[in-house]
Amino acid sequence: MTGALRGKHALVTGGGRGIGRAISGELAARGARVSVVSRSAGVRADITSAHELDRAFEACRRANGPICVLVNNSGIAESAPFLRTDRAMWDRIIATNLTGTFLCTQSAIGDMIAAKWGRVVNVASIAGLFGAPYIAAYCASKHGVVGLTRALAAEFAATGVTFNVVCPGYTETDMMRQAIESIVRHARISEDAARDRLAQSNPGGRILSPEEVACAVADLCEGEENGREVVLPQPA
Ligand SMILES: NC(=O)c1ccc[n+]([C@@H]2O[C@H](COP(=O)([O-])OP(=O)(O)OC[C@H]3O[C@@H](n4cnc5c(N)ncnc54)[C@H](OP(=O)(O)O)[C@@H]3O)[C@@H](O)[C@H]2O)c1
Repeated sequence: MTGALRGKHALVTGGGRGIGRAISGELAARGARVSVVSRSAGVRADITSAHELDRAFEACRRANGPICVLVNNSGIAESAPFLRTDRAMWDRIIATNLTGTFLCTQSAIGDMIAAKWGRVVNVASIAGLFGAPYIAAYCASKHGVVGLTRALAAEFAATGVTFNVVCPGYTETDMMRQAIESIVRHARISEDAARDRLAQSNPGGRILSPEEVACAVADLCEGEENGREVVLPQPA
């Protein structure tokens, strides 16, 4: 902890549960004034709607001042073989994971540019760096988030605003529990075997805790690095 976040307004999308909740807690513990935006917790907005999130971000500014830190954490995951990935599923996933990140970033960075200091941390996935079967839409959306982060890190270099991305493997949340249920159903294996399969697909061969992801996000918010991709779990 460096104290760099003390008193700063940090907005976390999807900060009411799972990884986002751990991020909100960690940023608050490091002294930030945290706003949460999601459909069911904090200031309510669906991040696929520019209109809703502009209104929500304004409400957060009224409560906590200009936005200094934005964590684009909201996301959804669905799996299907590519030939059964219909247009509606593709659109849902791209709209939430990629377009939502674009919209939230556009809505927040004006404050950071004006202050000549800001931090944007995007929560992608190892599926943002590597391919895997049955998650084409999710994988494409998260590769998009990594690409967007790289582009903005380059475009805004030397403005005082940094853009970094964390790429976690499977992490113990509702999203992972849904992945386990789907494997149990489709591969007809036990829950323990499904969990083990997911653990083995992670770097380091183990499941992450939301708190580990939160720590990595908070470290990027406190630091000066720009354009970093942090893969989790990190090798021991
Ligand atoms: N768990 C994993 O294994 C894992 C691994 C790698 C990356 N990730 C990424 O980590 C992030 C958090 O995932 P999680 O595991 O914590 O999942 P989670 O428990 O399912 O939480 C997802 C969060 O996203 C919010 N959200 C979803 N759609 C939204 C929308 N349209 N508008 C606003 N908020 C929305 C949800 O809030 P509301 O429902 O209240 O709107 C919720 O807070 C996601 O981007 C996910 O892709 C997760």
